[in-house]
Amino acid sequence: MKTLMLGADQIETAAQILRSGGLVAMPTETVYGLAADALNGAAVAAIFRAKGRPMDNPLIVHIAALDQISGLVREFPPAARRLAEVFWPGPLTMILPRSAAVPAEVSAGLDTVAIRFPSHPLAQKLIAVSCPLAAPSANLSGSPSPTTAAHVMADMNGRIDAVLDGGECAVGLESTVITLAQGTPRILRPGGVTAEQIRSVIGETVIDRAVTQPLGKDETAASPGMKYKHYAPRAEVLLLDGDDSAFEAYIRASGDDKSAALCYNGEESRLSCLCIPIGDKEDDNAYAHNLFSALRKADELGCSRVFAHCPKQEGMGLAVYNRVIRAAGFHIIKL
Ligand code: TXA
Ligand code: MG
Repeated sequence: MKTLMLGADQIETAAQILRSGGLVAMPTETVYGLAADALNGAAVAAIFRAKGRPMDNPLIVHIAALDQISGLVREFPPAARRLAEVFWPGPLTMILPRSAAVPAEVSAGLDTVAIRFPSHPLAQKLIAVSCPLAAPSANLSGSPSPTTAAHVMADMNGRIDAVLDGGECAVGLESTVITLAQGTPRILRPGGVTAEQIRSVIGETVIDRAVTQPLGKDETAASPGMKYKHYAPRAEVLLLDGDDSAFEAYIRASGDDKSAALCYNGEESRLSCLCIPIGDKEDDNAYAHNLFSALRKADELGCSRVFAHCPKQEGMGLAVYNRVIRAAGFHIIKL
């Protein structure tokens, strides 16, 4: 199949493809999503094939108006309403009891459905002129999520109908996923809205253990996506936990001409390998914004190993940590 590259003035073409059951990659403020009509089970099933995604990993349904939610969930509890008022549109996904109108394919058979109201204007327009859209990140399953239309093409050219080009994604990593379907609200995946921000609105909120720890063999994932290898480039990712001089010394001792470092601005001159800057030190928003594109860059440059700084586990740092430990196969090198 030929994959069309569509511009912002071709939203109607994208909407037609979606209405007739096709697949369109769309920009959002987090990462690009691979969208299909959320109420068309066959179209949704095609997303899983195009990505090579395990069928037991459910998808997020994207809306562009609050009133669309009533057709998708059985309940919209008060805590979810408050979060919606403060953080929607934006990088927050809420898991709620699923309405029977949502095909089983979307939720991989679960009794819940994940809902998000993205803030990207093109995503909003596309949903407004088509329908609620089921969309996972638009990468091949296991790879870093795409933050530009070119990244989507690199993974999906020939596998989907079209890519709607909306430029570079602002946040750079995926939305925060929180379940409000039962008991105390629980963050299953940290992202663009931090745990601290969520607590300031609804109070007690648990962070699921799987956010920072590998799952045991017999444990069930609250969020099925958390059990798979994820966000990994072809290159091996080495996550180094220590101060900057220890980071530099480790690379001096073990780097080679096939290694790259994801480095802070200004650190290049002190590192003895290829450098891919990820922003200012202590700027976790910049690290989040640049992480996936930097991992893809390392592959483009033919690197076999990538050294990365270990971020702090708070604020946006927790979201970066959650991605980068998975990219590193949960292996942290303590310096
Ligand atoms: O920012 C984002 O969330 C992006 C953009 C495109 O919106 N989407 C995204 O989708 O990251 P995806 O499919 O790559 O990640 C969705 C995560 C997965 O870990 C999945 O297991 C979890 O959300 N999830 C979806 N529905 C769920 C449900 N009903 N219960 C538990 N976890 C769910
Ligand atoms: Mg994904």
